[in-house]
Amino acid sequence: MFDAQSAFPQARMTALTAIFTRRSVRAFSSEPLTDQQVECLLAAGMAAPSAGNAQPWEFILLRDKQLLEKIPAINPYAAFAPQAPLGILICGNTTREKYAGFWIEDTSAATQNILLAAHALGLGACWTGIYPMQERVQGFRQLVGAPEYVLPMAFVSVGYPRKAVQTSVDRYKSDRVHHNVWGQQ
Ligand SMILES: Cc1cc2nc3c(=O)[nH]c(=O)nc-3n(C[C@H](O)[C@H](O)[C@H](O)COP(=O)(O)O)c2cc1C
Repeated sequence: MFDAQSAFPQARMTALTAIFTRRSVRAFSSEPLTDQQVECLLAAGMAAPSAGNAQPWEFILLRDKQLLEKIPAINPYAAFAPQAPLGILICGNTTREKYAGFWIEDTSAATQNILLAAHALGLGACWTGIYPMQERVQGFRQLVGAPEYVLPMAFVSVGYPRKAVQTSVDRYKSDRVHHNVWGQQ
């Protein structure tokens, strides 16, 4: 079991602070991540809840610049991917599912855990969307040589933020909250 407290005793951010101050980071310095940081991100992903505890995820680490440079052609909104020292391709493995179809929620929960862990470690990260866009699914599958039963769901770029990140945003909207029945606010 990854012991985050021992590995990163200085990372003292509470869960709530991490949730409320995390922002997408799209500009990175070239400083590489340590093996321990990467292990922490993966352990955080694998600590996520999943339907029937099936854990139907696979994580493909991309550090090869030649591969990273092919990503903007697959997702033009991931133009910054080659600048990050690490990319994590989060995939659902449908052969590992207990309840068909829930791999989407399971891998999404893992992705969010990775974003929060990166932030708690003082790193920056950005989720770039793949599934359900079929051309992106095929593009990433081809890029890493994954079989048909493996579905790329998200690609997360990770690294040290190149500039200060704006952290405070308030997205609370009371009209999105319904008490007992739809529309009762
Ligand atoms: C499913 C999903 C797909 C996303 N795809 C992209 C993307 O392709 N490129 C990108 O720059 N950001 C992408 N984002 C990040 C969002 O733009 C970002 O989360 C949103 O603007 C809110 O900003 P914040 O993350 O700083 O709170 C994606 C986020 C999600 C959840």
